[in-house]
Amino acid sequence: MTAGLKSHLKGLDSGDSSQAIGNVLRESLSSQESFSQKHGSMSADIIIEATNVSKWYGTFRALTDVNLTVRKGERIVICGPSGSGKSTLIRCFNRLEAHQKGEITVNGIRLHNKMRNVTEVRKNVGMVFQHFNLFPHMTVLMNCMAGPMWIKGVPEAQAKKTALKFLERVRIPEQANKYPVQLSGGQQQRVAIARSLCMEPAVMLFDEPTSALDPEMVSEVLDTMTSLASDGMTMVCVTHEMGFARAVADRVIFMDWGQIVEEGNPNDFFTNPQHERTKLFLSQILRH
Ligand SMILES: Nc1ncnc2c1ncn2[C@@H]1O[C@H](COP(=O)(O)OP(=O)(O)O)[C@@H](O)[C@H]1O
Ligand SMILES: [Mg+2]
Repeated sequence: MTAGLKSHLKGLDSGDSSQAIGNVLRESLSSQESFSQKHGSMSADIIIEATNVSKWYGTFRALTDVNLTVRKGERIVICGPSGSGKSTLIRCFNRLEAHQKGEITVNGIRLHNKMRNVTEVRKNVGMVFQHFNLFPHMTVLMNCMAGPMWIKGVPEAQAKKTALKFLERVRIPEQANKYPVQLSGGQQQRVAIARSLCMEPAVMLFDEPTSALDPEMVSEVLDTMTSLASDGMTMVCVTHEMGFARAVADRVIFMDWGQIVEEGNPNDFFTNPQHERTKLFLSQILRH
């Protein structure tokens, strides 16, 4: 670890260590790594394949026989009532949660209880959370450099170059030397997106990325996501921003009670929902 990086760690709360931070990073960052070369057996086109996935928290069944295939370049929006299992599902995709039944394969790696290298999976899957989850004692730049350096072993100079490129990409290069607390919520979320992009993930997962933002900051984050989508990024977005879903999604998925109730292209989904539960949900969120 470099001296610069060590000095950034000093300000952390007692009990923190670079290893602990590395673990957190491993949980929240990810990247793509010549994946198809290493895992050539799976169709190169499929990034996520979930088959009959079920998950329990204790005796509570949070997911029931979920089937979902995400292909390269697809933009999927998942919506549904609070508690319907949306976060649980996408957290299973980067092994932040473990499923107990069914199969999940992410970029050719099958996720299972005996897998030894969860980090390898998380290198492939970028995740953006509702509450940004930036490292408060690191500058914006360091937030973006840490994952590539610590997890992928990228040299510092190269990590800095990549970080600046992606901060430019989310249109906040001028904030590079600030700390997260000095940024607005919208800016922090854009840093979180840049941080994930620095790992060059095969797929980006978004878990209600705008729901903690003040209304005037929602559009800057949605604009960033829209621009990523138009660049061809494979994306799975849990969001209730239905304007975004209409504009960007190839498929909209509606979940309730841990199941996928209905899915379709945005036009069919919004104009002609098939299930009563979908109709009710849409009538509730589109009422205002
Ligand atoms: N760590 C957990 N322990 C126990 N129950 C949980 C845990 N996380 C989520 N749940 C429960 O699982 C269900 C699905 O939660 P979640 O995936 O967060 O839903 P959503 O993201 O759609 O709001 C909810 O009933 C929630 O209370
Ligand atoms: Mg959730």
